Amino acid sequence: MGRRVLITGGAGFIGSHTCLVLLEQGYELIVLDNFDNSSPEALHRVQELAGSKQLAVVKGDVRNPDDLDRAFQTVDQVDGVIHFAGLKAVGESVAEPLRYWDVNVNGSRVLAAAMERHDCRTIVFSSTSTAYGEPETFPLREDMATAPVHPYAQTKVAVEQLLTALCSSGPWRVATLRYFNPVGAHPSGRIGEDPLGIPNNLFPFITQVAAGRRERLNVFGQDYPTPDGTGIRDYLHVMDLADAHGVALEHLWEQEPPYPLTLNIGTGRGLSVLEVVKGFEASTGISIPYDVVERRAGDVPRLEACPQKAKEILGWSPRRGLAEMCRDGWTWQQANPMGYRGGT
Ligand SMILES: NC(=O)c1ccc[n+]([C@@H]2O[C@H](COP(=O)([O-])OP(=O)(O)OC[C@H]3O[C@@H](n4cnc5c(N)ncnc54)[C@H](O)[C@@H]3O)[C@@H](O)[C@H]2O)c1
Repeated sequence: MGRRVLITGGAGFIGSHTCLVLLEQGYELIVLDNFDNSSPEALHRVQELAGSKQLAVVKGDVRNPDDLDRAFQTVDQVDGVIHFAGLKAVGESVAEPLRYWDVNVNGSRVLAAAMERHDCRTIVFSSTSTAYGEPETFPLREDMATAPVHPYAQTKVAVEQLLTALCSSGPWRVATLRYFNPVGAHPSGRIGEDPLGIPNNLFPFITQVAAGRRERLNVFGQDYPTPDGTGIRDYLHVMDLADAHGVALEHLWEQEPPYPLTLNIGTGRGLSVLEVVKGFEASTGISIPYDVVERRAGDVPRLEACPQKAKEILGWSPRRGLAEMCRDGWTWQQANPMGYRGGT
């Protein structure tokens, strides 16, 4: 029998792709999600793509101990947790810091307490490249200081600190993955990123403009200190990111401490907003009209990973390039013009 893994937030963008990868690798999964920013349809499709593999779904909130107990009690023993559940919109976090601290930090604390109750101390945590704040030297290495500049990143750093304290307190095995910018979709076009309302992230915004769902792309600021004035991010294919979770879990089960293990998960090759727009146009043949608008609160000029540590420790490197990110994201958008809400 495969290892049993509890996945919080497993119906979301990164979670759904990770569930599929882990099911295909023979893991047995329990997803806990309150569907605050996702649809149960994503998990139906994961199940369909994975065939008859093992996926249990518990609708519940990561801040609720009873919901967590129900999820843990689905199987005899949970072997590890991947903790995706949380809120992730930078601008929203500036407007609603209390909500972000409650869901992201309090949710993680309640989860960690449930893990102790159920004798499971192995966790992969979704952290963020924005933990580095507004760095001036590149690429970003894990031993650089964190200096978060908005509540979203502050909540992630707070959880990193909580997990570090747990590792000092007992036999916890923790991998903190600092994701850079996941984009694209599973190549089937059956699962992908489905933001509610106006997308906060560049890629779904571009694909929605390409599909005619929105008229023009908003480029938030062209006066950053970068070659073309637009923000630079390190985009990686969501399937590469999903793969990283499987190898991180295996590492935690097989290797001895020291923990926590903190790893950047990115490509090391940053791209500006305008470079991504051009790449998308080249891959799909569709032109993306855009307007340059005001900078957004909380955005920084540049984030670019040094991915070396993940390569050395996990043997993980991204395998897919910008053309695949664009192709797969566009396949998903075309097949699902209204996301999961359009039905099958
Ligand atoms: N997408 C990115 O660019 C990115 C980058 C860095 C880090 N992250 C982090 O990775 C994780 C997953 O990101 P994503 O892009 O898949 O986001 P997402 O919003 O698609 O997925 C998050 C999932 O968590 C669920 N959720 C939210 N609050 C919950 C709660 N209180 N209880 C239970 N479930 C809850 C949502 O319904 C959703 O299914 C998040 O923690 C996010 O902060 C994302």
